[in-house]
Amino acid sequence: MGTNNLNILVIGGGGREHALAWKIAQSPLVNKIFIAPGNAGTESVAVNVPIAADDVNGLLAFAKQNKIALTVVGPEAPLAKGVVDTFEAAGLLIAGPSQRAAFIEGSKVFMKEILTRANIPTARYEVHTNKDSALSALARFGERVVIKADGLAAGKGVIVAGSRAEAVEAIERMLVGREFGEAGAKIILEETLDGEEASILAFCDGRNVIMMPSSQDHKRIGDNDTGPNTGGMGAYSPAPVVTQEMERWVEKNIMKTTLAVMSAEGRPYKGILYAGLMVTKDGPKVLEFNARFGDPECQPLLMRMKSDIVPVLMGIAKGDISDVNVEWSEEPAVCVVMASKGYPGDYAKGSAITGLSRAGAMKDVAVFHAGTTKSSDGRIVTNGGRVLGVTAKGATIAGAIELAYKAVSHIRFDGAYHRNDIGGRALVR
Ligand code: AMP
Ligand code: GLY
Repeated sequence: MGTNNLNILVIGGGGREHALAWKIAQSPLVNKIFIAPGNAGTESVAVNVPIAADDVNGLLAFAKQNKIALTVVGPEAPLAKGVVDTFEAAGLLIAGPSQRAAFIEGSKVFMKEILTRANIPTARYEVHTNKDSALSALARFGERVVIKADGLAAGKGVIVAGSRAEAVEAIERMLVGREFGEAGAKIILEETLDGEEASILAFCDGRNVIMMPSSQDHKRIGDNDTGPNTGGMGAYSPAPVVTQEMERWVEKNIMKTTLAVMSAEGRPYKGILYAGLMVTKDGPKVLEFNARFGDPECQPLLMRMKSDIVPVLMGIAKGDISDVNVEWSEEPAVCVVMASKGYPGDYAKGSAITGLSRAGAMKDVAVFHAGTTKSSDGRIVTNGGRVLGVTAKGATIAGAIELAYKAVSHIRFDGAYHRNDIGGRALVR
């Protein structure tokens, strides 16, 4: 890799992809960054290209025309559509798992089978396609049971039922009402695990892993984890619930064993593997795998990453990260998501956003855009549910939280909403 000569394409247009483009832009190896489709914020570090993130053929044509040396995939949809397979068949380098490997996120039943084969601790479960068999299975799970649609359901396919009635309703909605279509034609019933959640992500090349520091997402819309689930209202890293010893255990017994089983299945896994964990009194158990960076976990993680990200992404694409070294800052980082009022339900678009430059100019702060766009008169306006990921780094978690909220206080738009307790669980420890 020579200096300054790589053209890179980032696929996606959310806060995660803005953070990826921002981090890639710091690499001395890079000439030009393109992002498809990007948002109003990504324009400051990349060239926005009006191609949808899941338009695989459009992306391929663009990459060929623009001599793209490396493509980096942010979201799940293009992975599930086989963007990696399509690019590789055309001889292009791309960092992400193949369609068959991304199935670890695309099917929860498949994920559970991999966990079982790899002997990785996870919640006890059963798979059902028939309403009556699912209802009679409830007796085997007690009052608290989790019901999950097998396929991708935009984060809405998991019901943590608090009562038998809720469980029955969820089963009927999925198997009879077909609320999630084919994605919910098969469901998982599983035991409810108690503990604290944490995420551990790793860069993978099929055989080797490079662990990232732990992080924690805040999925519920309201303070103190109340209200409906969202894509994520904020995140911090590290998650103090994860000890160093636990990290080593996860590397050996979750990440490496998963790669070994995936290879044995003929689905070698290269890309970012995201393990959603429940840290129980018996140790960490896997709740889910994602085949990509988490959003917003990506934002604090990349703020803490000291090394150039391009060599590791290039290593993933080429299938060998064994000689890549990645260093992380000791300093914690926190991302507070600013959302549109109403999210995760209906919300308005088009509110002008002010204070972005003031917040963005603060030391150790980065304002990553998600749902933003430029209006016809050139102002930056809201264009989605999650609007911004205001991210800050500090000497302590308390310092990072304070700095992130100070930056948030400079930013205004009609209907702006954010949680006030991001990082709070780390403070308690
Ligand atoms: P998933 O997409 O499978 O991670 O589920 C989404 C969320 O549901 C998780 O982040 C947890 O908060 C919760 N959840 C999923 N499975 C379980 C479980 N077995 N026990 C307790 N909570 C769960
Ligand atoms: N923030 C959770 C996810 O990206 O899946």
